[in-house]
Amino acid sequence: MQKHENPSQLMTRRDLLAQTARGAVLASVVPYLSRTHMLLAQESSSTRVRDSFDFGWKFLDGDAPGAQSPKFSDASWRDVDLPHDWSIEGSFDKDAPSSGPGGYLPTGIGWYRKNFHVPESDRDKVVVLEFDGVYQNSEVWINGQYLGLRPYGFVPFRYELTPHLNIGGDNVVAVRVDNSKQTNCRWYTGSGIYRHTWLLTTNQLRIAYWGTYVTSPHVSAESAIVEVKTRIVNGRKTSSSCTLTTTLLDKDGHSVQMQQAAQMIDGGAEYEFVQRIAISKPSLWSSAHPYLYTVRCSVEEEGRAVDVCDTPIGIREVIFDADHGFLLNGEHIKLNGVCLHQEAGSVGSAVPLRVWERRLEILREMGCNAIRTSHNPYAAEFLDLCDTMGFLVMNEAFDEWRQAKGKMPSSYHIYFDEWHERDVLNFIHRDRNHPSVVLWSAGNEVPDQNAPEGAETLRRLNHIFHGEDPTRLVTVGCDHVYSEPLNETARPEFLAALDIVGYNYVDRWRDRAEKYYSIDRETFPHWRVVGTESPGMGGIRGDYSRLFPQTAPLAGARPWNHAGANLDVELLWQFVSTYDYVAGDFMWTGIDYLGEASWPAKGSSSGVIDTCGFKKDGFYFYQSQWTDAPMLHLFPHWNWKGKEGQFIPITCYTNCDTVELFVNGRSVGVKGYRFPRYGMEGSYGKFSPRSLAARTTSDLHLTWDVPYEQGALKAVGTKDGNTVATMEISTTGEPARILVSADRKSLVADRRDVAHIVVEIQDEHGRLVPVADNLITFDVEGEGKIIGVDNGDPRSHENYKAKHRKAFNGKCLAILQSTAKAGQILVRVSSPSLPSATLTILS
Ligand code: GAL
Repeated sequence: MQKHENPSQLMTRRDLLAQTARGAVLASVVPYLSRTHMLLAQESSSTRVRDSFDFGWKFLDGDAPGAQSPKFSDASWRDVDLPHDWSIEGSFDKDAPSSGPGGYLPTGIGWYRKNFHVPESDRDKVVVLEFDGVYQNSEVWINGQYLGLRPYGFVPFRYELTPHLNIGGDNVVAVRVDNSKQTNCRWYTGSGIYRHTWLLTTNQLRIAYWGTYVTSPHVSAESAIVEVKTRIVNGRKTSSSCTLTTTLLDKDGHSVQMQQAAQMIDGGAEYEFVQRIAISKPSLWSSAHPYLYTVRCSVEEEGRAVDVCDTPIGIREVIFDADHGFLLNGEHIKLNGVCLHQEAGSVGSAVPLRVWERRLEILREMGCNAIRTSHNPYAAEFLDLCDTMGFLVMNEAFDEWRQAKGKMPSSYHIYFDEWHERDVLNFIHRDRNHPSVVLWSAGNEVPDQNAPEGAETLRRLNHIFHGEDPTRLVTVGCDHVYSEPLNETARPEFLAALDIVGYNYVDRWRDRAEKYYSIDRETFPHWRVVGTESPGMGGIRGDYSRLFPQTAPLAGARPWNHAGANLDVELLWQFVSTYDYVAGDFMWTGIDYLGEASWPAKGSSSGVIDTCGFKKDGFYFYQSQWTDAPMLHLFPHWNWKGKEGQFIPITCYTNCDTVELFVNGRSVGVKGYRFPRYGMEGSYGKFSPRSLAARTTSDLHLTWDVPYEQGALKAVGTKDGNTVATMEISTTGEPARILVSADRKSLVADRRDVAHIVVEIQDEHGRLVPVADNLITFDVEGEGKIIGVDNGDPRSHENYKAKHRKAFNGKCLAILQSTAKAGQILVRVSSPSLPSATLTILS
C-alpha cells in the first residue's frame, strides 16, 4: 500500500496540528509550512494510518463499459491527480446540456482507475476508502467487486475494502461518475472526483468512523466541561478489554486534562464511552480569538496502543435568542454573513485549499464574520479553515427536498426519499465537531415549505439533526414567509417547526421593504429570526455602463448593481444593525460563482468579489459598515475621454465622520452619514459616538455630481476632526507596463500548494489602467505549473486552462501550483505591446 507518497514533505497531522498551535514560532522556524499544508497533511500514527489517495489516477472522459474489471487496460487513459473536475477543463458552449445553470460547460460520464499495493503487514487490518465528494452518481468497484452507488455529489462517503483486497498484492479501484443527466443543479457543480480521497487503515479494535463527538455542556470564562463520546468497534470475533484515554491538549500540544475508562467489548460489538473533562479558565473559541484545543482519544488493549484519533475542537457557547439575536460566549455578535457557492472560478470545483484560504482572508478584510455554505455540504477542509480563521458557519444540506424546483428533471428531489437520511447523517457526523458551525440549515427555498406534507418532511429532518446533534438549532432559508401570492406562503405549521425562522429576501413581500421583520415580530414575538439570504451589492467589476442611461446594459449581465438594489441593501442593513433580535444577515453573494447564468454570461456577478478574488466597489460598502479601521472608497474611475463637461456621479463608501471631495484641488463639498442614529452608540460595541459634523444623507453612501474634466479626484476622510483616510483617483495614460505580484513567496512542493499571480496593467506612472484589456501570456519555468487563468469577466469564454488571458478592466490572474520537487519557479508575464515582467517563487 502506498504510505506517504511524498514522505520528505509530510508530517503527521497530529504533529502539524500541535505545531500549528505554536503559530508564529513555527512560521519563523519552518516558513514553508503554510497552515493550509498542515490542515491537509497526512494523519498517521503507529496505530491508524490515513493516507492521501489523491495521486496516480487514470481518467477517461467518456464511458467505458467493463472498466471495473481488474483486467481492463487503462493504458491510453490520461494521468490525473485528485481533486479533479473535468467540466472546468472544457470549452463554453451555448448549446451545452448543462446550459445556464451549469455555466455552459461540458458534463457527461467519466471513469477513474487507480492501482495500489497492499503490504502483507496489513493482513489483519481494516481498510477503508474515503471519498470527500464526487459529482455525481458515483459507482465504485474494488478488484471488480461492486461497492455501491452514491447519487448526491456533495456528501462524503466511504467503503470498506478489507474483504476484497489482495493482501501483499496489487489492487485496482475503479470509479464511474455519471453527471450526464442535465440539468440536475441550479448552479455549477463540476464533474468528477472533485474532492480528496483517503485510504484509512486501522486495527480491528478501533475508534469507529466519525466515532468521536465532542460538545461543551458548560462554558464560562471561569470553567468549562467538555464531553467526549467515543464509539469503539471491536471487529474481532472474540471480546477485547479496551482502555480509552481521552486527553485535552492545548494549542501548544500540552496536556490540560485527561480521563481514562476501561470496558470489555464483545466480539463484533460496539461500545460508546462518555467522558467529561472539566477545565478551569478555558480559552474560549470566538471569531476574534479562534482558539483550538485537540481532543486525543487513545485506545489500548492489554497495555498495547491500538488506535489514536485527534479531533480539533473549540470551546464556545452559541445562543440564538428571540430578543437578543446571536450571542457567542455571552457576547452579542451580529452575523455579518455572506452566501457562497463552493467552486472557485478557474479551478472549478476542485479547489486547492489555499484558494479558499485567500478568499476567506479577503472576506475577513471586508469585516465578514459568517458564511452560509449555500446550498450544500462543502469540502471538510473548508470547515477546518473556518475553525482556524474564526468564521461562523450556517451549514446547509440541500436546495431541494421532495418537491422539484423549476425545470430540473434530475435534481435532488428524485433521490430525496431514498437517500436523504444517509446523506444528512454523513453530513452531521462529519461536521458536528467544528466550532465554526453554529447553525444547521436543512434547505434553501424548498418548495416543500408550502406543500401539504412539507412540515412533516421538515420534522423528519429536524429529528435527525436534533438526534445526532442536540447542541445546534436548525433553520431553512424560506423565501415565502407570509408572502404574496398567498397560496405560495410557507405554511404556518412549517414555520412553527423551525428552530429559527430563516428569511430569504425579507424585503420582498408586502410592505416589508420598509418594515422587514417587524411585521412578524409583532405577531410571533417568540420567533428567533435570521436573514438566511438577502440582496447583495454585486455587479461586474469595474463596469460603469449603468452610470450612463443611454448606454445599453451589457448583454447577459444581471442588474445586480443598479442604484435601486444598492439602496435596498442599505435600508435593510440599517434595520438589521438597529434591531438586536435579528441575528444577522447572509447577503447573496460574497463571491461570484459559475452557473445560474444566461448566455453570454457563464456565471453570476452577484458577488462583491469576482472569481479572481478581485474586489468590486460593493466590497467597500460592507467594509464601511462591518469594520472600524478608517477607510473610504471612491468610484468610478476617472478615464472618461469624450465626456468632458458631462456630470458623473462620484460615490464614496466610508466609515469616517466626514468626507471632502476635491476635483483637481478644488473642494466640491463635505458630506457625512446620519446613520447610525443617536442612541445607537455602543450597540454591539460597533458604533462609537460620532461628531455632529456634516450629517448630510440618510443613505449609506456619499455622492457628488461632478462635471468630468481630466485630472485627479481626491477624497479626504476625517474622524473627530482629524484626517484619517484619503484616496485619489486620476485619469490615466495608455497601458505602458505590467505589474505582476503574488500572494506567496514560497510554496510547499506537494503538488497541491498554490500561489495567486496577479497581473495589473499600468500606465507609465504606475497607475492601474481601469479599462485595459491587453492579452497576457503566462510562461512558467521550473517546479510549477499554471492550473487556471481568469479575469473575472462573467462573459469571457476564454478557456480556464489556457496559458493566456485577456486582462479585464485592467487585471487578470493565474493560479500557480507546485510540483512534487522543490526548486525555483520563474513566471514570465508577457503581452504584445508591453515590456514583459517576471516573478520568482521558491518551493
Ligand atoms: C435565491 C436563491 C439563490 C440564487 C438567488 C439568485 O432565491 O436562493 O440560490 O438563486 O436567488 O438571485
